[in-house]
Amino acid sequence: MTDYKLLENQIRELAKADQAWLPLFANASALLMQAIPGINWAGFYIRDAKGLYLGPFQGKPACTHLSIGKGVCGTAVEKNLVLCIPNVHEFPGHIACDAATDSEIVLPLHYAGRIVAVLDIDSPILKRFSLADQEGLKSFAQTLERCADLSPLAEALPAEKKSAAKDAGMPFELWLFAVKRLAQTYEMVDPIFSQLSEIEKNALRKEYEQSV
Ligand code: SME
Repeated sequence: MTDYKLLENQIRELAKADQAWLPLFANASALLMQAIPGINWAGFYIRDAKGLYLGPFQGKPACTHLSIGKGVCGTAVEKNLVLCIPNVHEFPGHIACDAATDSEIVLPLHYAGRIVAVLDIDSPILKRFSLADQEGLKSFAQTLERCADLSPLAEALPAEKKSAAKDAGMPFELWLFAVKRLAQTYEMVDPIFSQLSEIEKNALRKEYEQSV
């Protein structure tokens, strides 16, 4: 059984010397590859405006670009979930970088609430990642999020869509509720809604109708 707490301590010690994400990701992939038996790939994909691109890793050469929403890594980003896949051959759209891989775990890494990278570990053994591995790796990923300076990765991403509600400090749910209420009665709230295009009105009406 892998000592994930030891791995966390090792990454913390390394971060004391240098917090930069690139050397830390490189050393993290080396540590994981050495410490976890029965794996054939451990490394990172970095998020950019187009999708994910290959970062530091240990193992065979791998696909350089992945799309959000495709494969295990892209799906983990799209859904913002840790994905533990016991049999990758049964995962729709799995991207096989190494034909020997049978199971895989992908953990999104965040900075200021946004996914900036994923940690991807592959194994040539079916069901390689137990619940204990999943918990250990989640904790390891959190330690990495805290220790590494991931801010340059977030800065490289396109700005998040701004909303008036956000600017006004209004919680999204409350804003959405207000919009829905307005949509419900928008014939009465002229001129606000008369200034919206037909497309915008229809989109709001559709959103409202789907939600009730
Ligand atoms: N299998 C991954 C692609 C990356 S390689 O495993 C290194 C996927 O389906 O996203």
